[in-house]
Amino acid sequence: KKVVLAYSGGLDTSIILKWLKETYGCEVVTFTADLGQGEELEPARRKAEMMGIEEIYIEDLREEFVRDFVFPMFRMNALYEGVYLLGTSIARPLIAKRLVEIAHETGADAIAHGATGKGNDQVRFELSAYALDPDIKIIAPWREWEFKSRTDLIDFAEKHQITVPKDKRGEAPFSVDANLLHSSSEGKVLEDPYEEAPDYVYQRTISPEEAPDKATHIEIGFNSGDPVSIDGREMSPASLLGVLNELGHDNGVGRLDMVENRFVGMKNRGVYETPGGTILHHAHRAMESLTLDRGAAHLKDELMPRYAELIYNGFWFSPEREMIQAACDLSQQDVEGTVRVKLYKGNVTIVGRKSDRSLYSEDLVTFEDDHGAYDQKDAAGFIRLNALRLRTLAARKRRD
Ligand code: ARG
Ligand code: SIN
Repeated sequence: KKVVLAYSGGLDTSIILKWLKETYGCEVVTFTADLGQGEELEPARRKAEMMGIEEIYIEDLREEFVRDFVFPMFRMNALYEGVYLLGTSIARPLIAKRLVEIAHETGADAIAHGATGKGNDQVRFELSAYALDPDIKIIAPWREWEFKSRTDLIDFAEKHQITVPKDKRGEAPFSVDANLLHSSSEGKVLEDPYEEAPDYVYQRTISPEEAPDKATHIEIGFNSGDPVSIDGREMSPASLLGVLNELGHDNGVGRLDMVENRFVGMKNRGVYETPGGTILHHAHRAMESLTLDRGAAHLKDELMPRYAELIYNGFWFSPEREMIQAACDLSQQDVEGTVRVKLYKGNVTIVGRKSDRSLYSEDLVTFEDDHGAYDQKDAAGFIRLNALRLRTLAARKRRD
């Protein structure tokens, strides 16, 4: 009996670790991933060692996360319910994938995670895991254990010599999930959706009011729908997103306060910060505006809400997500060039774009002499035929 635990090194997952040993009497393998959450990983190793763990996996997954999950999602311009850039949702399939792989490597038959029984994350972890291994066993301690309150948890921790940091003794002021793409905060002080979020909730952006009075201009280079350079400097996916995050941070870009519909049926108020992702979202759309054909662009826009919902609901590893992805990726072949972006006090404004693969034609669109590229007389028949059914309807209405 062996279980692989997604272990952050924090109080909650340390309690889960002990609880797994106590309840199942099983061997525990810990898996701690660097997804760019901005925390040291070595403390997690030491803590796991101190709790007698022998198999400890610590991995830097930042490049894989951005290259194989974040960028493909941004090719699709995905937004859940019109605004959420899916920063938490897109990280779950990768964590689940590694949990399952490590289970196979270590001969474990189960995996465990620290998501509560009320949210989306449990669904995302578990749907992903089952899609990759139909027989994997999944333990979700939050759905199983008998603890009723924070006090019960703390008592259990102290009984088992788990150090409880002073600030963790009481209830945390809100719950946080962070990675290279975003930070999310929800619960507690954020539960009343009419109350403005206190400023201390924000952790990776300064407020637009505090941002410089002078705009920052940058140029983002794209290739096959993915960003590859900033101001001419080529960068790996994770480094590039890191630089965009700094630029976004400094200009107060990417804050979002929303009420969303969780897959499990309840509404939830979340505060998200996606500085680099917000810049990238706008820049990618601008690159497409020049290089994507209208039919392809509009079809993508129709499929987008469906795609975003699939990711939000935990269906990254599903045939329908992969089908949409394949169609999307096919459309991105010529999405290349450079977008000029202005960042100013929370705003991302596109101020220029160019591409060798541009479909934009000054010859066609100009109000000056276009030398026969477009015959305005053609428009007369075009409008007449399109108007035919509208005129028929109008004529009937007049008879009424
Ligand atoms: N509501 C967001 C989502 O479902 C974030 C969930 C995790 N966030 C957290 N603070 N625990 O994607
Ligand atoms: C959790 O319940 O663990 C976090 C929130 C969510 O998954 O939606």
